[in-house]
Amino acid sequence: MEDIRAWLEKAQTSGKLVRIEGADWNHEIGCIADLNLKRKNPPALLFDNIKQYPAGYRLLSASLSGSANVAVTLNLPAGLSDLDLLHVLRERQTEWMRSLDRFRQEPVTTGRVLENVHSGAEINLLEFPSPKWHELDGGRYIGTGDAVITRDPETGEVNVGTYRVMVHDEKTAGFYISPGKHGRVHREKWHALGKPCPVAISVGHHPAVFGAACLPLPAGTEFAFMGAITGAPTRILTEEITGLPIPANSEIVIAGFSPPDKNRMEGPFGEWTGYYASKERMAPFIEVERVYHRNNPVLLGSHNAIPPSDSTYYTGLMRSAQLHRELMEAGVPDVKGAWIGLQLMGVYFIVVSIKQRYAGHAKQAACIASQLVSGGGYHGRYLIVVDEDIDPTSTQEVLWAMCTRSDPEKDIDILRRCWSTALDPTIRKPSNAFFNSRAIIDACKPFEWIDEFPKEIRSSPGLVNTVKTKWGGVLGL
Ligand SMILES: Cc1cc2nc3c(=O)[nH]c(=O)nc-3n(C[C@H](O)[C@H](O)[C@H](O)COP(=O)(O)O)c2cc1C
Repeated sequence: MEDIRAWLEKAQTSGKLVRIEGADWNHEIGCIADLNLKRKNPPALLFDNIKQYPAGYRLLSASLSGSANVAVTLNLPAGLSDLDLLHVLRERQTEWMRSLDRFRQEPVTTGRVLENVHSGAEINLLEFPSPKWHELDGGRYIGTGDAVITRDPETGEVNVGTYRVMVHDEKTAGFYISPGKHGRVHREKWHALGKPCPVAISVGHHPAVFGAACLPLPAGTEFAFMGAITGAPTRILTEEITGLPIPANSEIVIAGFSPPDKNRMEGPFGEWTGYYASKERMAPFIEVERVYHRNNPVLLGSHNAIPPSDSTYYTGLMRSAQLHRELMEAGVPDVKGAWIGLQLMGVYFIVVSIKQRYAGHAKQAACIASQLVSGGGYHGRYLIVVDEDIDPTSTQEVLWAMCTRSDPEKDIDILRRCWSTALDPTIRKPSNAFFNSRAIIDACKPFEWIDEFPKEIRSSPGLVNTVKTKWGGVLGL
């Protein structure tokens, strides 16, 4: 797989990249990243000459926040609209998932990440320009667009997940993982055995590494998925201390062990929900035993904000395509579209459109979508099913359908005690069990009298064409 430097060159020519010199890691980078994300189709930002750090120690943010850079990362044609990208992604995802075996990984014994290897007294996480992203964050976060690598002590399966990583001091880092996430399950299994959990974390890499790590993929498939989307197996080194696989072309990898029964204060951290909701809590940490980095390394950051965040565009597209595919694979017929808002609420507001075929079809689609991890399974809230004439990507059309085709008394169901997280702003902390509910809204026309349902006021296509030809000039159409 190519490295982040090849990605930067491509983004410079066919994507969107802006260089920023001299920003301060303390709040300023976060605020610049935030302002950038509020623009339509924002460019990636490459920060260099960061205050107090040598030139060349860089940070890339917003790498997947706009269509041009998503196309660069996923090797897709340039210039596609969001909707076209979604359609292409639906087809590509199916191909990628089918071809995982061809892209498992390429074991290697050398890699650019080995240019600098630090152990013992040489380890200093503060060597890198990790931002304090938000003013109320509890510290500096070196890992946001990262890839946290762990191994299941029972099955040996390796997981790669994006989980936030806070710098506690030169040699320790906190890592927050929500209950039920694969990395958390691994960590809990090691700790239940009374053993330290080996962890390796890549915090700078080609954005495709982040792009795979942050998706709810089947455990153990992330490296192969990275290979499938970039078209070549990921080159993998075995990290010496932990024995974990690490990308050979990473910019920075930290490796060590998370001891059982030891915790440190982690957070608060401004999260994708738009809140500092998980507060400050005791959480497991990593005693770092090795740091590997390239000369002049590039950190990959992903800024969380009141939506849109750095990742909402990419994860919205990828998960919309994933949800559509998985609904069909689960046997739900005639799914016409699935949509997880790209700019706004993410998994809080999911829309599925279907061509109703039988009584109960809408409820079936909604219940399954509300529990699939690609959909609202983890920390979802509102799941709306609409008929096939409604464009699920149009909030205007969806709200119109919801208000005119559903009757709250019979068309809203609540699923209680579903999977949530400490990040849920509506759960009062401290708490040791994070449940929330799902509202399932059937905004389809009532199936039993669908043919009698009032006709929508839509002009016929023939009339529209004639009028456009005759009057389009006057209307500026
Ligand atoms: C920028 C970004 C940061 C994330 N940070 C965390 C985090 O700190 N903890 C967490 O549990 N999930 C976090 N996630 C979500 C996980 O990466 C996501 O749920 C992924 O599917 C986890 O991998 P897993 O399914 O292998 O557990 C983050 C996602 C993104 C896009």
